Amino acid sequence: MLKSNTTKKKVLKILLEREGDIVSGSELSSLLKVSRQTIWKAIESLREEGFYIESIPHQGYRLLNKSSADLSPTWIELSLDDISWGHPVLYWDSLDSTQEPAKSLARQGANEGIVILAGEQKAGRGRLGREWLSPEEGSISLSVISRPNIDPSFLQLLSLSTAIAAHDCLEELFNIDLELKWPNDILWKGAKICGILIEASSEPGKVHYAIIGIGLNANLNPKTLSAVNKPATSLKAILGRKVHRGEIVAALVRQLQKKINNLEKPEGITECIRKYSKLCSTLGMQVKIEQDNQVIKGIAEGISPLGNLIVRSEKGTLMSFSAADVTHLKATKP
Ligand code: BTN
Repeated sequence: MLKSNTTKKKVLKILLEREGDIVSGSELSSLLKVSRQTIWKAIESLREEGFYIESIPHQGYRLLNKSSADLSPTWIELSLDDISWGHPVLYWDSLDSTQEPAKSLARQGANEGIVILAGEQKAGRGRLGREWLSPEEGSISLSVISRPNIDPSFLQLLSLSTAIAAHDCLEELFNIDLELKWPNDILWKGAKICGILIEASSEPGKVHYAIIGIGLNANLNPKTLSAVNKPATSLKAILGRKVHRGEIVAALVRQLQKKINNLEKPEGITECIRKYSKLCSTLGMQVKIEQDNQVIKGIAEGISPLGNLIVRSEKGTLMSFSAADVTHLKATKP
């Protein structure tokens, strides 16, 4: 079983509680019942995560400016101490894609709720084999292992629930008005801020695992975003300031656990479709659907109980799509 470094977490907890005060190494060592050497190692490792911890000779350690560690896995785990997801949070400065270690751990039987987090991705990927830009400058890239007890026919609902979770988290933290584009894009005034990729392994009647990949443009600059073909934005561009990425990851994982666990109850599924339909800006739009070299135009009329998009084609036929690429053409209502 993958375990968190509990000493490091406990040291951080004490330093945060006594931020700005000097805490002696001997006090930490006797409180946590470990050697001074273990405390020193934990402090070094917290510094590597970005915390600014002063060593004051013959006196002890002092944490200054807790926000200096913007994407600390230990801080995120500590913030999630009251729930089961987020233990551990495994962090890499750089990865090709967070989906890969998550998948390989899931195949080896790793627990639900483990988070893989990267400072940057060299080969981040999106839906339909697209590239996902996640530079070190300020992206959030994470993959979470889930093992939902649902029938595989409901897997599409994981995308919708994750989109709702990200929406609720960002709205709660920043009070911004976001829309959901079916099936799993999160937009601000038509520009993409967050993308979701679900990769699952299942057999009839059982989902073995589903990797929930989330890419969020947190502190990306407009210049970087202009490299993306479609309109894109970031929290920094919207708010005009940098955001604390760890705080967002912790809030996101908390929302995710709630929303994904809810899908295991029939009323949770109904609630997911109801809420998604309310937030989904695709509904009521004239849309272009591209699927298997086919292009269909029509009006998006609803979300099916399995999370498919229901479209009335120009010929008047009702069609249901599960994995298509959708372009919003224009609104049918003012
Ligand atoms: C999309 O909009 O098409 C989905 C983008 C998903 C990106 C995330 S970032 C974390 C995880 N790792 C990846 O390589 N992709 C997902």
